[in-house]
Amino acid sequence: MQNNNEIKNLRELTELNNYVSKEIDKRLEKFFNLKIAEAKKIDPIYEKLLLDMKKFIQRGGKRLRPTLMLLGYKAAGGTDFEAALDASLSLEIFHNFVLIHDDVMDGDMTRYGGANMTGVYFKRFKKQLPENNARHTAEAIAILAGELNEFFTFEVLTKLDFEKEVIFEMMAHFQKVLFETGAGQQLDVMSSIRGDLNLNKIEKVNYYKTAQYTVTSPLQLGVIAAEGDKKLMNTFADFGAELGKAFQIADDLLGMFGSSRQTGKPVGSDIREGKQTLLMYYAKKLASPLEWKAISTRLGKEHISADDVKLVRSILKECGAQAKAVVAAEDHLQKALGIIDEMQIDKDTKSILIAFSHYCVVRKK
Ligand code: IPE
Ligand code: IPE
Ligand code: MG
Ligand code: MG
Repeated sequence: MQNNNEIKNLRELTELNNYVSKEIDKRLEKFFNLKIAEAKKIDPIYEKLLLDMKKFIQRGGKRLRPTLMLLGYKAAGGTDFEAALDASLSLEIFHNFVLIHDDVMDGDMTRYGGANMTGVYFKRFKKQLPENNARHTAEAIAILAGELNEFFTFEVLTKLDFEKEVIFEMMAHFQKVLFETGAGQQLDVMSSIRGDLNLNKIEKVNYYKTAQYTVTSPLQLGVIAAEGDKKLMNTFADFGAELGKAFQIADDLLGMFGSSRQTGKPVGSDIREGKQTLLMYYAKKLASPLEWKAISTRLGKEHISADDVKLVRSILKECGAQAKAVVAAEDHLQKALGIIDEMQIDKDTKSILIAFSHYCVVRKK
């Protein structure tokens, strides 16, 4: 049972997230309309691509990173929330770029509850081309769309009404984040062929592809925008490392046990990809040799049926791997909460950060 304070904090987090989502959508509308008009002058096909990109980014996402940036900004003493929201648009466009490319890397065609960029173009090209060719061409378009968003991120930053030095620092921040996320993504993609389920490597992937990317980096961007205390950057790094790992474990659990209606993503994609997640690490440790064989023969299988998913799910439950992963997420959450406790920031922001931390592990989408 949640106490009144926790419910109040959760309500405030939801209100903030709703507000940020609306503000981000307004800014996306304006930004993409401009790019659509520019593209129209070049070619109608290019205009259509920009329209598709706009539709895709507007359809989805929880807008967690801009929300976190605002919290970081407020914690660092920032007061101009309109300006902070303008800057936070860069984070959402950057995220969309990373996700478009992530889906190409993971071979996924669904996101935000529908076809992603590859999926949209695959459906169109399939009418004219053989399946393999259609997929390749659709992925080429998706790579291009991601690339455009990568540079739109910097376009948003260059046009901000901030001191030049601050903008420069934000750009340097994105460069560092991209570099580190690149490590996480490569290790993750290659984990299926290394196949050794090593705990250190799994933790490293979760740190680089999620913790620093999803939690630390948005909070730090807020501190940079507010020209805040650099000590807070380090505190947020420690906090993000713990909470981000909890977020990724919850993401793995949701991907495995949730429905695609909840997540907006395909079910069983981690099995098809043979992803080396913490969940799989525990399964290898806890399952009987026969049970593990049933799982491992399905890891990396090209077509995962609903029965495959059902079987893997039941073994993960039976052998205790699911419960172990839940405990691990809870453990990282507790460490993150301990760090918040020590933070020298205003009381309101602290409460919302606490609510956000809990949300990361109980979220259903
Ligand atoms: C998904 O992040 C990618 C990870 C780092 C696990 P989110 O779950 O925040 O993605 P959206 O934008 O809300 O769908
Ligand atoms: C995405 O990781 C990580 C980044 C976006 C950096 P995943 O591949 O695990 O996330 P989903 O499940 O596709 O969102
Ligand atoms: Mg993925
Ligand atoms: Mg991935």
